[in-house]
Amino acid sequence: KKDTLILAIESSCDETAASVVKNGREILSNIISSQIALHTLYGGVVPEIASRKHIEKINQVIEEALKQAQVTLEDIDAVGVTYGPGLVGALLVGVAEAKAIAYAAKKPLVGVHHIEGHIAANYIEHPDLEPPFLCLVVSGGHTHLVHVEDYGKFKIIGRTRDDAAGEAFDKVARAIGLGYPGGPKIDKVSREGNPEAIVFPRAHIEEAPYDFSFSGVKSAVLNYINGCKMKGEEYSQADIAASFQKAVTDVLVGNAMHAVEEYGDRKFAIAGGVASNSALRAAMAEACKEKGVEFYYPSPIYCTDNAAMIGVAAYYEFMNGTRHGWDLNAVPNLKL
Ligand code: KG4
Ligand code: ZN
Repeated sequence: KKDTLILAIESSCDETAASVVKNGREILSNIISSQIALHTLYGGVVPEIASRKHIEKINQVIEEALKQAQVTLEDIDAVGVTYGPGLVGALLVGVAEAKAIAYAAKKPLVGVHHIEGHIAANYIEHPDLEPPFLCLVVSGGHTHLVHVEDYGKFKIIGRTRDDAAGEAFDKVARAIGLGYPGGPKIDKVSREGNPEAIVFPRAHIEEAPYDFSFSGVKSAVLNYINGCKMKGEEYSQADIAASFQKAVTDVLVGNAMHAVEEYGDRKFAIAGGVASNSALRAAMAEACKEKGVEFYYPSPIYCTDNAAMIGVAAYYEFMNGTRHGWDLNAVPNLKL
């Protein structure tokens, strides 16, 4: 039987990425051109700059992905691309590129939901993982507790009411002077801090036990810092980081394990940029072990935005018969 090759493109935020994926789970190449250094100058992602950088980099990134995989466009079976959610101008670059390639090379076009990609990142290094399972998607833009019923079939059972988990990390990092991107920096300095030093609030939503809220803990950190400044007291960056991280982790683990119990799944996965957080991984691993549930997580390179995960999701969509027309557009608030 002939292999199925997907060329995948991802440009929803600040990474320009392309990948070639073989038979759904084998990554032949995974090229990522990160704009982080550029956006660091502004303390966060500047959408206009992201779009401009994508258009500059995208052809090189795709060329490199094909070259490293040792394939040509002719060998490709379909072109997969993230068409939402994300920054509209950033998404448009990838979508226009994918459409142009698919049209010129006469290949089918498969649009992919960014979150479906994050979840699919778990398939790459876990050949045994198949739906159904529960997945917590925690990134800069999303905090979703998802029941993965089948390939391409999802049920969202919980979501954030306000800030995404990664967004809270980024905002708190900025407030305590760690800069952008905040998640990895908080992760690092927390190792020198005491997670029990300050008690920040853990939000529980009575009528929706799987939903999240992180604006309260973020405000509590800001109030704590302002309080210290007004009193002229020193504060410990490491203790704040560790205590904040612990508060967020407690809520993520608590809601996730509650869902594991309620839904009876024996498999639990995490995905998205925040899934590379070391404290979250450790706490989830322990909680899953206690419950006798198999715990899955991707390597950090497949947690943050990349095109390999989009290629994996595109493969399953392609096999399920998903095809998009030449009218495919970027959908910034695309629903799962
Ligand atoms: O998945 P991703 O690359 O982009 C989105 O789809 O949003 O996630 C980026 C987010 C950022 O908020 C970043 O601060 C966070 O993931 N992040 C982390 C860590 N690494 C990245 N948060 C906590 N700990 C980390 N180690
Ligand atoms: Zn993402």
